[in-house]
Amino acid sequence: MKYKTLDDFNFKGKRVLLRSDLNSPVKKGKVIFNERIIESARTIKELQKKRARVVIIAHQGRKGDRDFTSLKQHSVLLGKFVKVKFVDDILGKKALDAIEELKNGETILLENIRYLDEEMKPEKDNKIVKVLAPHFDIYVNDAFSVSHRAQTSIVSFPSLLPSAIGRLMQHELESLEKIKIKDSLFVLGGKKIEEQLLFLNRKKIISGGTLGQLILISRGHNLGLQNKLLKNEMKYLLRLKKHKKILAPVDYAFLVNGKRKEFSLDEMPVNYEVMDIGRKTMEIYRGEIMKAKSILMKGPVGYCEDKKFRKGTAALLKAVASSRAFSVLGGGHLTTVMRDIGLSQKNFDYVSLSGGAFDEYLAGKKLPGLEVLKMQK
Ligand code: 3PG
Repeated sequence: MKYKTLDDFNFKGKRVLLRSDLNSPVKKGKVIFNERIIESARTIKELQKKRARVVIIAHQGRKGDRDFTSLKQHSVLLGKFVKVKFVDDILGKKALDAIEELKNGETILLENIRYLDEEMKPEKDNKIVKVLAPHFDIYVNDAFSVSHRAQTSIVSFPSLLPSAIGRLMQHELESLEKIKIKDSLFVLGGKKIEEQLLFLNRKKIISGGTLGQLILISRGHNLGLQNKLLKNEMKYLLRLKKHKKILAPVDYAFLVNGKRKEFSLDEMPVNYEVMDIGRKTMEIYRGEIMKAKSILMKGPVGYCEDKKFRKGTAALLKAVASSRAFSVLGGGHLTTVMRDIGLSQKNFDYVSLSGGAFDEYLAGKKLPGLEVLKMQK
């Protein structure tokens, strides 16, 4: 390991600033239980056993998004595994008093760090760093899945505090090093097109989510309302048009009068949002999955927070699990569906809890959060 781990420090009585990734799917304001909570709890538990005084910083969603919310519910979910007290403050007196009052083996979770604008702008001595750093002895980054973001809680502390990676981050890094992805079939879903673009030059791709829709639009299909919803992504059409071999959906599911209804591309309704791939697409994709020797699946192919629309993602996950291929899954949403449909990490060769970070790492990019840890104090 190029990085210091929890084995390299004596944590007894030390104040530890732990960056975890608790970012979770949120449905109607309810934070959904998922693997990130379980895995993040392991590092917390170990630090508690080592008698550290742990302060967790984490985020949920982004300003302006539907899932941008408090971390209060996350502390309850973490509470199934470890004792964690939620403090609804980050830099104020409430937070600082709670940090100072921590006893050995105790843990608090601060409020959503993205509530502070400074989180997104990691200037050297911004308010977050100035206020928090003096209260800590050690910084631990357990958020591999956010380490592709140059954000304050990820990049600013290692130059000021002795730093280590947590167990979840360590496990991700050790597993990613083993993956051979050259000839894999890529099953690409999810909302964030910038992340899917990293893999466009792969030999064999089947597409869902935003990528699938944009591919179709680039080939001249009118997806009705979806064309309007994707207006910010239209700038990628020219680039996508060149990728003629990428398989795209042939039918989609929509929410019509409260029910799931499927339509093929030539009979698409104009006033509804695309919610999932349809049955014909599932069959075609399943056939491709069964032929592959190695598969990398990332991101859901539909709106998987709603049971009606996780069918496509579930069908593909089941196909990947039952195929003989070497299989790798990436992205938090995918692992939530995996669990909901009764599959587990054991059904796949490796399950990453990271989305964008996983992509950038596999695409050979340098992750800012890892780079700073190499140069840590
Ligand atoms: C994720 O869910 O991929 C991470 O928590 C990073 O979230 P972000 O894409 O909003 O930075």
